[in-house]
Amino acid sequence: MLVNTIKEVREQVKAWRKEGLSIGYVPTMGFLHEGHKSLIEKAVSENDRVVVSVFVNPTQFGPNEDFEDYPRDIEKDYAFCTEAGANLVFNPEPEEMYFPDKCTTVNVEGLSKGLCGAKRPVHFGGVCLVVSKFLNIVTPDRAYFGEKDAQQLAIIKRMVRDLSIDVEIIGCPIVRENDGLAKSSRNTYLSEDERKAALVLSRSLKKANEAMENGLRCTKEIKNIIESEINAEPLAKADYIEIVDSETLQPVESVEKNVLVAIAVFIGKTRLIDNFTFRLN
Ligand code: PAJ
Repeated sequence: MLVNTIKEVREQVKAWRKEGLSIGYVPTMGFLHEGHKSLIEKAVSENDRVVVSVFVNPTQFGPNEDFEDYPRDIEKDYAFCTEAGANLVFNPEPEEMYFPDKCTTVNVEGLSKGLCGAKRPVHFGGVCLVVSKFLNIVTPDRAYFGEKDAQQLAIIKRMVRDLSIDVEIIGCPIVRENDGLAKSSRNTYLSEDERKAALVLSRSLKKANEAMENGLRCTKEIKNIIESEINAEPLAKADYIEIVDSETLQPVESVEKNVLVAIAVFIGKTRLIDNFTFRLN
């Protein structure tokens, strides 16, 4: 079923609850790919009913970002969700989600400062606002997020804990193309040459991972490995290269605990992100 209003979602959820059914939820911005599919399929395997939201959320885009250009195809997305086993797709208009005079903000301080937050100052406030609203509308037992957006996942976990929202947040591994590029709706922006150049993200992370497996612990040196790989690719420009504590997201000088190695790289005008977590235990 495809619905556009909060009221319709609430009615359906109420009916399911009456039957004692569990509910899984996958928030998305649409233009769905195999990465989203893995989240939907995991939700289907762990819950009686699954809700997917498809909403290009205006509040998480900065003034010079790609809100207008972000790819949209709700008919295709709806068929995709149904195929993957979702029961309800919620595709609201911005007016359904936001009152013109809204004045409530949701910010997870600290965790939102570094990495993507340093480059996109309004982004995580918008993500937290919309995700908290969706969690209040859908009231799922479990909600599924990709490790592709590792900072987002950490922030949402902290928000749910701090606000006592009654939901289990489940992280799902990054789904990649056969050649290593992390799947992303934004990959559609890439020209043929840029698509090849975009492999520098996964390639540079792989090199860093190998060096860490071989015992390298100095984060400055690890970052240098990534940086030289990116600099060698003419169409690529690093936006950030960070190595942070995987829970606090604070930068570390040496790898003593589990760390998140995260990068954002411009390929032409398209900004792509990738990461891996290096675990010591
Ligand atoms: P979107 O970019 O559409 O991603 C929706 C979910 O799919 C996120 O949890 C994201 O991490 C996950 N995802 C995307 N690509 C993936 C991949 N290659 N492998 C695994 N998971 C992947 O993230 C958002 O939308 C928005 O910020 C949202 C949470 C919906 C709030 O507006």
